[in-house]
Formats: sequence, C-alpha cells, structure tokens
Amino acid sequence: MKILVTGGAGYIGSHTCVELLNAGYEIVVLDNFYNSCAESLNRIKELTGKDFKFYECDIRDRDGLEKIFAENNIDAVIHFAGLKAVGESVQKPLEYYENNVGGTITLCEAMRDAGCKKIVFSSSATVYGMNNPSPLKETMQIGGTTNPYGTTKYMIELILQDLYVSDKDWSITILRYFNPIGAHESGRIGENPNGIPNNLMPYVTQVAVGKLSCLSVFGDDYDTHDGTGVRDYIHVVDLALGHIKAVEKVASCTGVNIYNLGTGNGYSVLDIVKAVEKASGVKVNYKIVPRRPGDLATCYSDPSKAKAELGWVAERGIEKMCEDSWRWQKNNPKGY
Ligand code: NAD
Ligand code: UD1
Repeated sequence: MKILVTGGAGYIGSHTCVELLNAGYEIVVLDNFYNSCAESLNRIKELTGKDFKFYECDIRDRDGLEKIFAENNIDAVIHFAGLKAVGESVQKPLEYYENNVGGTITLCEAMRDAGCKKIVFSSSATVYGMNNPSPLKETMQIGGTTNPYGTTKYMIELILQDLYVSDKDWSITILRYFNPIGAHESGRIGENPNGIPNNLMPYVTQVAVGKLSCLSVFGDDYDTHDGTGVRDYIHVVDLALGHIKAVEKVASCTGVNIYNLGTGNGYSVLDIVKAVEKASGVKVNYKIVPRRPGDLATCYSDPSKAKAELGWVAERGIEKMCEDSWRWQKNNPKGY
C-alpha cells in the first residue's frame, strides 16, 4: 500500500513514517515546514534505511495536491498537517480555521477527485470538551470546545461524518489522541517546539537540560491525588503504531470509525516531574502558580475500543516515555 502522510515532517508524523516504513508500507510525505524542518526527514531515512518521495506543499494548495495524486498511486492518506498551539489559536482564529478546516476540505476534495477515499485523521481528546467525566469514551457527546484549535478538530470530525453520509465509498478513521510525549528510542527524532514550549513534557525536559530555569505548575488545588492536573500521557511510538492499525482498518472497510488513542492511565504534573527527575538524574525546579484558564482537573481515556477493534494497546509506560523524552532532549538540546 502507498500512503500519503500530510504533516509527515512533524512530531507525530515523523514517528509514524518510521513505523510505516518499518512495516513495509510505501510512503509519500507532504509538509509545508511551517512547524518542522527537512532534517527530520533525513533522520527518518537514516533510522529506517529507506527512501521516500517528499513534496514541500501546503494542504490548501489544490493544484499541488492534484499533482501529488497524479504522480503517485495513493491508496490512503494519514492526515497530520495542521496548526496545534491552543493559545495561538485564540489570538489567530481565522488562520486556524483556514489552515485546519479549510486545508482539510481542500485535501478531501483532491482525494475525492483522485478516487482516493481512505483517510486517517488526527483528532484530539480536546473534542470531549469540559463536561464529560473521565474515563472518556468514544460514545460520549463531543463539542463544547473552549478554544479555536479544539473547535477545528470538532468541526473536521463533523465534516468527515457528513462526507461519509454523502458518499458511502469513503473509509474514515478518526483518532482522538490523548497527550503524546516521548520520542524514538534512538534519540534521533522527537518533539521540536518553536520557542518556549506550551506543553508540559518539553517544558520539563528543557528545565532539566538547563535551557529554562523553572517550571510553572498550573495549580495545585485540583481534585486529584496531589492537587495538580492529571492527564493520559501516551508514548509517541505507541501512537505511531496505532496509525498502522488504523491504516489496516481504513483499507479493509468503509464507514466512519472513531478511536481513542491513550493508555487509560492518568498521571499528575508532579508525577511527571518526578519521573523526569528519575530518568535524567537531574532535579527539576518548579513553582506552583495559578491555574491555566481552560484546563481540566482530570482527562484520561477509555482505550478499550481500539483494543477490541484494532487490536492495539499502548505498551510503553511512563518511565519509558520520560527516558525517551530525556534522551531526545539531551542529545538535541537545540532541536534539529
Ligand atoms: P507538528 O506541528 O509537529 O506537525 C504538524 C505538521 O504539519 C508540521 O510539520 C507542519 O509543518 C505541518 N503543517 C501545518 N500546516 C500545514 C499545511 N497547511 N500544509 C502542509 N503542512 C502543514 O504537530 P504534531 O504534534 O505532530 O501533531 C500532528 C497532528 O496531531 C496535528 O493535526 C495535531 O493537531 C494533532 N494532535 C496533536 C497532539 C499533540 O499533543 N501533539 C494532540 C492531539 C492531536
Ligand atoms: C493541551 C491542549 C489540548 C491539546 C494538547 C496537545 C489546553 C487547554 N489543551 O492539552 O487541546 O490537544 O495540549 O497539544 O491547552 N502544565 C503545567 N505547566 C506547564 C504546562 C502544562 O503545569 O508549563 C500542566 C497543565 O495544566 C496540564 C498538564 O500540565 O495539567 C498537561 O498540559 P499540556 O501538556 O499543555 O496538555 P493539555 O493541557 O492536556
């Protein structure tokens, strides 16, 4: 099978490309390098010993997409390309809707015209909104998102559902990721945030490596085991392997299938700090500050549907996640 990977130079995309190539898939990668660089592609080749075609292209570029579909016999698309910074999305809602929602529509139009109607889409636990209790299940009502980024994911899920209603040839798998962390165990690819990280793990490892001085822990008065926010962290390689199962699924049936990709376990901010300290042997400076607006106390998945229907479970625990995040950070203190 030949898979087009949009956003394949990014964090989750690069890890998924490695697993796809290792599993024997042919891949074509598309990225506009808005939040990534060509070095990640070199490292995918280095890690796998395999080559692949790359197009520097934007998913909003209809002609560019047509050319890619015309030049390659694409069987299915894994669609990672998108903007993902929650805070930035509040400042730049039009850019987020245009890029994420508009870009996905353009991509689906190009797919339809090329007769390629199999897509795996990167959604997020954020679509469950603020009111569903954890463990979160795929059957729960979604919506009530609190920022434009989350709303783009919600809107795209609805658009993909409508697309299938209009044409039953489509096969659509929506993956709702929980909190991806970790890196390839080689330490050669990993998350490469621009500027000061918004997310917890890159912030903690940058404090551990001495790049940042102190972690701000956003609130210690939540109703959780130690008062700090609890999340379902998942190793990015487990997440990447979930995409292999999802590709097998889209290849084998039509319809819309939705899966949580998480471990089902919740860890607090301070659990993560301790686990990184253990993995790195370095003390992580932190201070407690007020809650971050829009944050939930607790968010973790019920991952049983992915186990039952895809035969997928996350296998890497929190120690491995922190060891691999740390190895990537230590070996690449300036990123790629
Ligand atoms: P990332 O920013 O590392 O990767 C996204 C890639 O898409 C980047 O390489 C970027 O350059 C590219 N891109 C963005 N807009 C593009 C466009 N218009 N045309 C072509 N390329 C474009 O992010 P990631 O963490 O790898 O996330 C991948 C997907 O998973 C995103 O859709 C994200 O919203 C979703 N997601 C991520 C997380 C997370 O915590 N990382 C959680 C839930 C969902
Ligand atoms: C955030 C986004 C979510 C997105 C996900 C992955 C919000 C409200 N949600 O999830 O939409 O899909 O990132 O990109 O932004 N924390 C600190 N200090 C920090 C950073 C984080 O204490 O410097 C805490 C947070 O309060 C939270 C936990 O660490 O309890 C995890 O935060 P983060 O990594 O930003 O992920 P989420 O907020 O779960």
